[in-house]
Amino acid sequence: MVYKMDLNVLLRENLKKFTSYEPGEQPTEEGWTKLNTNENPYPPIPEILEDIKKAINDKLRLYPDPTSFELRKEILNVLLRDKDTLTNRNSIFIGNGSDEILDIIFKVFIDPGDEIIIFYPSYGLYKVLGTLYNAKIKEIPLNEDFSIPDSAYSVKGKLMFINSPNNPNGKSFGNATILKLCGSFPGIVVVDEAYADFSNQTCLSLLKKAKNIIVNRSFSKSFSLASLRIGFALADPEIIKEMNRVKLPYNTNYLGQIAALSCIKHNNKIFEQNKKIISERQRLSDKLDKFNGVSVLSSDANFIFIKFEDKSKTLKFVWDLREMKILIRHFSKPGLYNYIRVTIGTEEDNDKFLDAFKEIANKYL
Ligand SMILES: Cc1ncc(COP(=O)(O)O)c(C=O)c1O
Repeated sequence: MVYKMDLNVLLRENLKKFTSYEPGEQPTEEGWTKLNTNENPYPPIPEILEDIKKAINDKLRLYPDPTSFELRKEILNVLLRDKDTLTNRNSIFIGNGSDEILDIIFKVFIDPGDEIIIFYPSYGLYKVLGTLYNAKIKEIPLNEDFSIPDSAYSVKGKLMFINSPNNPNGKSFGNATILKLCGSFPGIVVVDEAYADFSNQTCLSLLKKAKNIIVNRSFSKSFSLASLRIGFALADPEIIKEMNRVKLPYNTNYLGQIAALSCIKHNNKIFEQNKKIISERQRLSDKLDKFNGVSVLSSDANFIFIKFEDKSKTLKFVWDLREMKILIRHFSKPGLYNYIRVTIGTEEDNDKFLDAFKEIANKYL
């Protein structure tokens, strides 16, 4: 006989209304041009692959360093050396991607019913985690030009999430705005800088000016390591200490730590390679802007947000591009129906996208 269970009785109450995060499509078969999930189009440079290969040895049998000591040291001493940031090793936390860091921040600060502030539109995971942890979510619509509205300077709550550059529109919020929010907000301001390496600004220097800020960074985008899941956060050591208390013991894996260390060693070469993404962003934007009925928002990230004047055309582009095996991102959400988000690919990917776009535009625009 098989013993029974009643999942409805056993499940946490709030999972009944919970909708999980919907990741962009990751097709398993070959042949797709993937411009939908903001991955770096270039694989890790050969030096990094070599370091990963060398690391595949007896050490795989052992647990990784739970404190990611070497990685923290190198991030501070090498990667951020010129960034005018905090220099204490205890001001840095390494996570299993920056997504895990967001989860840990909720674990540290949010009791059921605590208020969090998020902006709309922005990265969808903030709201998903807010719901999961039973937070009271105050969602503030960004202004039409995606800037922060004045009402944000008078809100209260425990956590405020700012994504800079903001996903999906790609624009950064200036440091004056972020610092002003740190001053007015009574809780912690989390600045998610997953895409900051593609812009010419960062708020890292604000760590010296505000105690209530956490800056969250990723190795997934600018360092091409999305699959190895490494992110890091910088904050006051008192905050980092609490994050360490709640994290799972071995949250990051050995190969991820090795690969991230290698990225830091070769960061000049990688950032040089990323310049191609930045120049392609400009080329793609200029070309697309020339189409009637289409405008491209200025972006500081490795993706662009394209607006269609006629909302009814947007999905036609999404479907036809899909037919041509090109994946881009569309958000079926208020205010976003007439936009598509396109990740910057290699020159070849982008040409393929442009050719396809032209063909579809001939039909519909
Ligand atoms: C704004 C933002 N933050 C964080 C992440 C997740 O990054 P990671 O791979 O470091 O978890 C993403 C991924 O798309 C993102 O867009």
